[in-house]
Amino acid sequence: MNKSLLSINDLSKQEILDLIEFARNFKNDDGSFKKETLFPDKTVANVFCEPSTRTKSSFEIAAKNLGCSVVGFDASSSSIEKGESIYETVDALGLMGVDLCVLRHPDSVIRELDEYMPEMVFINGGEGSISHPTQALIDLMTIIDSKGSIDDLNIVIVGDLDHSRVTSSFVEGISNFSFNSLTFCGHPSMSSKYLDPALGRYEPDLDLAVQDADVIITLRIQHERFEEELNLDLDDYKHAYELTSERVQQARGDVIVMHPGPVNYIEISESVYQSDNSVIRNQVANGVAIRMAVLARYLSS
Ligand code: CP
Repeated sequence: MNKSLLSINDLSKQEILDLIEFARNFKNDDGSFKKETLFPDKTVANVFCEPSTRTKSSFEIAAKNLGCSVVGFDASSSSIEKGESIYETVDALGLMGVDLCVLRHPDSVIRELDEYMPEMVFINGGEGSISHPTQALIDLMTIIDSKGSIDDLNIVIVGDLDHSRVTSSFVEGISNFSFNSLTFCGHPSMSSKYLDPALGRYEPDLDLAVQDADVIITLRIQHERFEEELNLDLDDYKHAYELTSERVQQARGDVIVMHPGPVNYIEISESVYQSDNSVIRNQVANGVAIRMAVLARYLSS
């Protein structure tokens, strides 16, 4: 195992499965999380240079559950606002005794930081549109929890594919497994990275894409990543790409519906979000367990 988790590609299939199994050990039968003071001498900083609810809070809860000290770093009130670079920022945190930095940043800076600071452990908490490895671990864990394994599944990902680091890390992670099919569905202006048949099938018609699906992953439009204003009629978009109850009925009866959050209710209807098929809230809860497992593994190595 490398010193840092920069990409899901850093992990073998066995390491992914081991982390998921390790994460399960941190969950009690009632769904609460174990609190074990395993790392009282370790300090974790959450350096989030983009907004976050789930990732940032779950890393903080996970670190506290493991007995770590946590630096509640707020980029918007830090010296980054006075022009300090991310390199100087993380270097300063290291000099103050931070052992592990969870970094979310719009640019691909984490690899250079990881090389520049050999003593610091980095966990990628979201890298632009490039990667979000702990979300991929959560998504794989949630699928295995529901389906028993990844084998033989028909998986559909629908929404703003091009701007989705969740999709890129999921595709990298799932490439280790022998699923049956992977179908990408999205507006053509948001799907350019997923037209290559080597990655999976591109099916722009959501009604066709969801036929026989075992897993449907829905994605919001990531307005913050568009370089130009979107010229989309949202009613037309919803008509074509919203996962509705009628569309869920075309999938397998035990299909699970996922979403990394936050949900905008353009890409998915409220009734599907709240349906028995939805495991979206399970994904949020699995976030704490996966991040406890990741922190414990990387703080130990
Ligand atoms: N899934 C995810 O990364 O959510 P947040 O942006 O709320 O952290």
